[in-house]
Amino acid sequence: MLKDELIKKMKSIFGSDEKRIRHALNVLNYAEQIQLTEGGDLFIITASAILHDIGIHEAERKHGSNAGKYQEIEGPPIAADVLKNYDLEQEIIDKICLIIANHHSAKDTRINDTAEFKIIWDADWLVNIPDEYPDLKQDKLSKIIYKVFKTEKGRQLAMDRYL
Ligand SMILES: [Fe+2]
Repeated sequence: MLKDELIKKMKSIFGSDEKRIRHALNVLNYAEQIQLTEGGDLFIITASAILHDIGIHEAERKHGSNAGKYQEIEGPPIAADVLKNYDLEQEIIDKICLIIANHHSAKDTRINDTAEFKIIWDADWLVNIPDEYPDLKQDKLSKIIYKVFKTEKGRQLAMDRYL
């Protein structure tokens, strides 16, 4: 199955960075759960979740930083390089790369309104909330959850999990 191949590839690129591997798999898990309710192309969502942070090591190497903006630059070419090995339409590859190029900033209007993008955004936030806001009180957290999530299901999962 292509999903398993992509997971294998992601693991080999991240190498001994277990934390990144675990993060990608957790994001994938949430993305699949949200997709069941919110719809969107399952393959685009699966591949984007697995590969969304794939540029992180390259960002650190080239820019000395894993800041979102560098990941957004370095991720897409690596993802495209992985995806071109499979029999996929260019349009699909482009869409996955656009999601990766935008997943920290949500600045690109070509992709922001798609179900696929919103689901990756929400799945990543679901995993990142405890790291981003370790000591936050419930009322502040509920405001953040209300504000950042882009899908109903994503927001509901966040409330169930963190409130
Ligand atoms: Fe992420």
